[in-house]
Parts: sequence; C-alpha cells; structure tokens
Amino acid sequence: MSKIFAFSIRKDEEPYLKEWAAAHPEVEVDYTDKLLTPDTAALAKGADGVVVYQQLDYTPETLQALADLGITKMSLRNVGVDNIDMDKAKELGFEITNVPVYSPNAIAEHAAIQAARVLRQAKQMDEKMAHGDLRWAPTIGREVRDQTVGVIGTGHIGRVFMQIMEGFGAKVIAYDVFKNPELEEKGYYVDSLDDLYKQSDVVSLHVPAMKDNYHMINEETIAKMKDDAVLVNVSRGPLVDTAAVAKALDDGKLFGFVMDTYEGEVGVFNEDWTDKEFPDPLLKDLIDRPNVLVTPHTAFYTTHAVRNMVVKAFDNNLAMVEGQEPDTPVEVG
Ligand SMILES: NC(=O)c1ccc[n+]([C@@H]2O[C@H](COP(=O)([O-])OP(=O)(O)OC[C@H]3O[C@@H](n4cnc5c(N)ncnc54)[C@H](O)[C@@H]3O)[C@@H](O)[C@H]2O)c1
Repeated sequence: MSKIFAFSIRKDEEPYLKEWAAAHPEVEVDYTDKLLTPDTAALAKGADGVVVYQQLDYTPETLQALADLGITKMSLRNVGVDNIDMDKAKELGFEITNVPVYSPNAIAEHAAIQAARVLRQAKQMDEKMAHGDLRWAPTIGREVRDQTVGVIGTGHIGRVFMQIMEGFGAKVIAYDVFKNPELEEKGYYVDSLDDLYKQSDVVSLHVPAMKDNYHMINEETIAKMKDDAVLVNVSRGPLVDTAAVAKALDDGKLFGFVMDTYEGEVGVFNEDWTDKEFPDPLLKDLIDRPNVLVTPHTAFYTTHAVRNMVVKAFDNNLAMVEGQEPDTPVEVG
C-alpha cells in the first residue's frame, strides 16, 4: 500500500484531505499541522511521497532529511517554488510538482469586489454607519459601467477579471507582453502600458513579479494615470512602489487603492498583531485610510481554491508514487 504524508495541514484543509483519502482507500494518508523542517521530516517515515505548503524555506538540510528517509517525491499545494533549494533537490534526485492554477476566479472576484467597493466609497459609508452618521453626502459612488478598466496581464486571473468587470458593464482594455489571440481579435489590447495608464479609470495588475517589472507602478507611472484612478494589486507586492502610492493618495491623484499583496508582507501577513506593536508604519497608514482596502494576501483564500490545492497536490503526488507522469511537474534544477 502506498503512503502519502502531508505537512502543515491547516484546519480549513482537513476536510478536503479527508475527502481525497476516502476516495483513495488504496493509499494510506497521514498528516500533521507542523511545518516541514529537518526535525519534523521524520514524521513522514515510511511514506512514499510528501505533500507540502509553507513560506519557510525548503533548505538543503530539510531536503536531505527527507531523502534520508527515502522520500524524494514532493508535491506543493501552492504555485511558488522559489523557496526550494533547487540545486540540492536536483542533487538528491527530487521529483517536484506544484499547483499552478487552483482557482483564478478566487483572485479575480476579490479584485473585482474590492475595486467596486472603492468606487462606491463603501469603507467610508461603513465607517459612517458604524458611528451613527446616516447622511448620504459626500459619500457618493461611481458606477463600474462608467469606468474604463485597464488590465495588465491577461493570463488565467486577468481574463476572469475582465469578464467580471464586463459583466458590470465596464469598458475593458488590456496589455500583455504575450497577446492572447482571442482577446486580440476582439480588440482588447492597447499598444503600450502608457496607453493603458492614460485611458484607465481602474488599473489592475495581473502579472508575475520579475526583475524587469520591479516597482512598475511608481511615481512616474502614476503620473501618467488619469486623475482619480483606482489602482488594484492582487498580484505581487514588488510590482508596486507602495510609498509612491501613499503619496499619490495624499495628493488626491489616486481615488483609491486595493492591496492584497505587499512588498513587506512576509512575516507580517497571516499573523495576529492584536495587542502587539504593529511592525510596519506604512502598512498601518494604508490600512487606516478610508479609500484603501488592504487584505493580507487572502484573494486566493476560498473553499474552492483550498480544495483544489489539496486535491491537485495529492493527485500529483499519487501519480509520482505510482510511477506515472504527474499533471503539473516542476522543473528541478
Ligand atoms: N493574491 C493572491 O492570492 C494570488 C493568488 C494567485 C496568484 N496571484 C498572482 O496573480 C498574478 C497572475 O497570475 P495568473 O495565474 O493569472 O498568471 P498567468 O501566468 O496565467 O498570467 C500572467 C500573464 O502576465 C503576462 N505578463 C508577464 N509579464 C508581463 C509584463 N511584464 N507585462 C505585461 N504582461 C506580462 C503573461 O504573458 C501572462 O499572460 C501572479 O502575479 C500571481 O502571483 C495572486
């Protein structure tokens, strides 16, 4: 009987793990809520493969500890593989999989909901209501259908975001370094980012963070945007120079900001800072602003997405354990 062991299983993942295990009675499944470290690796003893997900690095020592147990088949429940020591993984003969697409709708919906809330000044109205101010003015909304929405990156998530915004009636334009032929035929693409900035009331980022687009949203590019534009970043923190955005909000250049990802998020997001000194003054400043909606990298965090992350990771791992080609292998090395 094959055995798969999963690390750092959260409470919200447990039902989907149990669902997968029930559907695969031929596989022994065991798990822990502990992260995978050189010390905890031993928990997987006897397993043929492991299923993992953590921000913590997969160090040479961690990988060695697994390999010492004869385990070299590792399936990530997430996308990112940059915290894996690939040289060591290659040296030890690891086979690795990830889950590159688990629910584009989760992230696209979040972006759309938050953008619409900013346009509607929903946070201001909620705050007024909370202290008994039930007056309308000056908290007037802007309708989505009156906006031109500029989508940067028309991959899995960007495309769903475009559909949702069109459902609201917005005019949607897009930019991508690789044009999708179907979208191109329909005439969505503008020629340059400058064109997109110039025309858009809402600018939404759906591109990966790479060296060449570090701080692509900065003082200079914000200056190219329309007055009262709304910026949406549910992609990656390093795409945005956050201090420049704060300044543009101060100056009244930007109408609002949706931020689910933040350059300084590691070690800050997904922690409880209640009754503790808040570690990041710029982040605190943004959280406190009435026209900024901050969420701690939770755009992906839906039941649909979490189920897919667990189920797809286990499917991948079982394929490797059974000597078959997994759906989404990661290049090791
Ligand atoms: N907030 C969250 O919870 C969350 C969850 C998952 C993914 N994400 C992020 O969302 C983003 C998009 O994910 P996806 O699954 O749609 O990716 P994808 O690979 O399907 O699409 C990315 C698109 O961006 C384009 N692109 C790459 N570099 C570009 C550039 N410099 N300028 C313009 N276009 C460029 C690519 O051609 C591609 O079409 C990623 O940054 C990902 O990390 C966030």
